[in-house]
Amino acid sequence: MKKKVITGLVIIFILILVITLTFLNLPSKSSSQSNNNLMNIPNNSSFISNGTINSSQEIPTNPQITTINSETLAQHNSKSDCWIVYNDKVYDITSYLPRHPGGAGTITPFCGNLGFNSAFVDYHGTVYEKKLLSAAIYQGDFSG
Ligand code: HEM
Repeated sequence: MKKKVITGLVIIFILILVITLTFLNLPSKSSSQSNNNLMNIPNNSSFISNGTINSSQEIPTNPQITTINSETLAQHNSKSDCWIVYNDKVYDITSYLPRHPGGAGTITPFCGNLGFNSAFVDYHGTVYEKKLLSAAIYQGDFSG
């Protein structure tokens, strides 16, 4: 009987030890990664040394953000392929055109150029901004 109790206590002790070690290990694993990962900047980035940015170097831009210039924008200037710029971001709104209650024709003049933003705000204000953004497919930031 006494033997059983001792065996039980030993098992419980081992379990507590294993659980404690597992929990202690978790934070130390993640803390070994640099905080740079939060910004998707590689650990070996040449721009960062001891947490400071060397002023002689350019501040890095995130290479994951695509930028789109006027020439590329201008290639998407039709009812069947319509990109517009809204708040400096480029969106494909082709699929929304046939659904626009005001007709596709009110929007198509702004496909592939910079006219959409002011036309949209002048006509609708920001009431349909959510509708626009849910129908639009983000392509990248407009670079000018
Ligand atoms: C993708 C962006 C757009 C969205 C989400 C949108 C949304 C809507 C909605 C929901 C309506 C019907 C509701 C209402 O009568 O107010 C509408 C109507 C209309 N929209 Fe748009 N719109 C967009 C872009 C534009 C642009 C750029 C113009 C003009 C430059 C425009 C002109 C009109 C007109 C003329 C009507 C119909 C007349 C009216 O009911 O006021 N819309 N739009």
